[in-house]
Amino acid sequence: MRYGYFDDQNREYVITQPDTPLPWINYLGMADYFGLISNTAGGYSFFQDARLRRLTRYRYNNVPSDIGGRYLYLRDDKDGTFWSPTWMPTRHPLEDYSCRHGMGYSRIGSTFHGIRADINYFVPPNETLEIWDLTLENQSEETLTLSAFSCVEFCLWDALDDATNFQRNLSIGELEVEGSVIYHKTEYRERRNHFAYFACSEPLAGYETQRESFLGPYRGWESPQVVESGHSTNSLKTGWSPVGVHHLRFILAPGEKKQVIFLLGYHENLPDEKFSPRGSQTINKRTVEPVIQAYLDPQRVDEAFQALLGVWDELLGVIQVHTPDEHVDRMVNIWNAYQCMVTFNLSRSASYFESGIGRGMGFRDSNQDLLGFIHMVPDRARQRILDLASTQLENGGAFHQYQPLTKRGNDSIGSNFNDDPLWLVLSAAAYLKETADWDILKERIPFENKPGTEASLLDHLRRSIQYVIDNIGPHGLPLIGRADWNDCLNLNTFSHNPGESFQTTTNRDGKVAESVVIAALFTMAAMELSQITHRLGMREESERLSGLADGMAATTRRYGWDGGWFLRAYDHFGQPVGSKSCEEGKIYIEPQGLCTMAGIGVSERLAETALKAVERHLATEHGIMLLQPPYQSYHLHLGEISSYPPGFKENASVFCHTNPWIMIAEAMLGAGDRALDYYLRINPSYREIMSDLHRCEPYVYAQMIAGKDSDAFGEAKNAWLTGTAAWNFVAITQWILGIRPDFDGLRLEPVLPDKWEGFSVVRKFRGSTYHITVRRKGRGNELTLMVNGQPVEGTLIPVTEAEQVDVEVTIG
Ligand code: GLC
Ligand code: GLC
Repeated sequence: MRYGYFDDQNREYVITQPDTPLPWINYLGMADYFGLISNTAGGYSFFQDARLRRLTRYRYNNVPSDIGGRYLYLRDDKDGTFWSPTWMPTRHPLEDYSCRHGMGYSRIGSTFHGIRADINYFVPPNETLEIWDLTLENQSEETLTLSAFSCVEFCLWDALDDATNFQRNLSIGELEVEGSVIYHKTEYRERRNHFAYFACSEPLAGYETQRESFLGPYRGWESPQVVESGHSTNSLKTGWSPVGVHHLRFILAPGEKKQVIFLLGYHENLPDEKFSPRGSQTINKRTVEPVIQAYLDPQRVDEAFQALLGVWDELLGVIQVHTPDEHVDRMVNIWNAYQCMVTFNLSRSASYFESGIGRGMGFRDSNQDLLGFIHMVPDRARQRILDLASTQLENGGAFHQYQPLTKRGNDSIGSNFNDDPLWLVLSAAAYLKETADWDILKERIPFENKPGTEASLLDHLRRSIQYVIDNIGPHGLPLIGRADWNDCLNLNTFSHNPGESFQTTTNRDGKVAESVVIAALFTMAAMELSQITHRLGMREESERLSGLADGMAATTRRYGWDGGWFLRAYDHFGQPVGSKSCEEGKIYIEPQGLCTMAGIGVSERLAETALKAVERHLATEHGIMLLQPPYQSYHLHLGEISSYPPGFKENASVFCHTNPWIMIAEAMLGAGDRALDYYLRINPSYREIMSDLHRCEPYVYAQMIAGKDSDAFGEAKNAWLTGTAAWNFVAITQWILGIRPDFDGLRLEPVLPDKWEGFSVVRKFRGSTYHITVRRKGRGNELTLMVNGQPVEGTLIPVTEAEQVDVEVTIG
């Protein structure tokens, strides 16, 4: 069953029924100002940091769900009928409801009571405000006398404090109303020099500034007293829960249209220019007023929206594919790329599953996210790499997370996730392959943000490698530390106490438990750095690094192979994890994918055997599970992984992030059919027809799909902010379609599924536009390349000055 459809032409998903299984959301904003918006206008907005600068309130885990949003109420003042054109919060049945989630905007429209309402929500590029562009049309035969109410609930900026410190917060709310603008200035009197505003293009018939006076006692958002009565209190209040409500009145003749623009924004003043007149407590509006005036102009709003569309034309234009499969095209050309940008912007901070309060930017997560957006925003990727490297520790290890506002490592989580530093090498290598910006390696950046410790990025990468060499276990495999990629495989935690963090509790000295996953990552990272140093003319170092990679690969074949597949780890007692000798958790997905990707055991055909085992033991119609059989009870020596009920999360769900590793591995071994098959099983668009089972948005990946051992097999959870986005993009574009940036040019190694006759791609790369056509001649994987009509040896297209490059590839 579906709840809408894809409109690929307009790059939109159109939801046609408001009561989707879960709120289906979208993101507004690309730089400093962000908003989350659901298909019924729920969600909230913030400036830069969803915890410290949250503008509006949102109630996670509420009943009914998705409360708090960008609400509008319409009211027929003759008969008192009122409703929300976005369905929530009044939930009146609407005619023609639709929500079009697009690239950085959401357009919600409906008809009710003879009134057509359309609202376009978006953030203009480079502004710290959002626009609600509302158009009303009287489609009835009568002249209507209408009231419209807008409503946002301001929150107190630090979202954690807002949810906990009521004894103070309920007494500090302050607002100002000037003309049609409601200013929220809680704490502005003291240490803040920023405030929020909610403006409107129309003169006001009334306004509200406090939740209780708007809703009335014991009432919810579905029937505010002011809306029901049609009379505002027009009172400026202090304390309790500040809101911004504009009350507008107008008369609409049959067929008449009316446009109203609302602006919700964030603004900062210089510390010594906060008040006007000086010495008063009134906000100085000198710098904010011009911004407000500008965007209340419909023409400016239109231009801003066109500019937003233009930004996305550019971003998505870097790679556009035309394949025989609409699910591939739609995800690659539109939604997967879009989701990669969202994970770039938000990391794991704010979604409908991440509260915006908990996590900062993950070190390993952010490095992997980079893989999905370097081609779209190389400059910002560069900065992100340098920011990440600046939080690296002097011993080469990494803070597990850093805070976006301060860009500093997060002490409360600390380090010792021993895979972390390796991801920096992999993301830096990916950046070099896309951009050839070798100068980045010379950038001098500190360790732990400490001035005076600056070293080149190249030195940082060396230390990442050294960190692993300095932390080798009894079998010669890397020590796991608190965890590796799998945050929940905690081999040194041994926690008995409820509520203790699996990730930061460490009851064992960590000198025994080893990780095959880190071995694979090390092998990959050492090979990449070997390639990099080779190109820098450092022959000895390059050879040393490739020697290290070979050594680790050999150790992995020797101690990391279980007979039928790669082992996952050795635990604190030196016993294997992910082995046929285990009763539960006999086989894990991660090492099968990552070892193959590292080339470990490929020529010995171990990789092939491992992938067969994946197909046999882990693959389901809803994707490939993380492990089998699931842990049925809590295992003290394995940690959080066994805390989840079977089939959920790391305990044997289809943890989507890992699936593309298998797709890549299959493609590397030439199995195009299987690679694409796995790709489609978790492709959200492919799963759209089972939206009632899948439940999350059909246009973006979710972190997990419940595994076969759960009671919800096939149900997705934790949509949007997941490494799944970047890795699937890499798997389909670079390995299955085989268009792969490499140090010395663009590599073309498609691995076609059997039934595909070919495909075409336009790819912008280092200043040239490549028009690539791939055709199947026979059933094999042999490739022949013609570049601008000339045959080329091998699979690498050397970099050129030419603007356009025509490439023809035949496969047979
Ligand atoms: C979550 C984390 C990521 C981790 C994964 C597996 O997605 O964000 O860092 O690798 O879970 O535990
Ligand atoms: C929990 C989650 C895991 C995530 C981690 C982040 O352990 O299960 O997926 O990586 O939290 O801290």
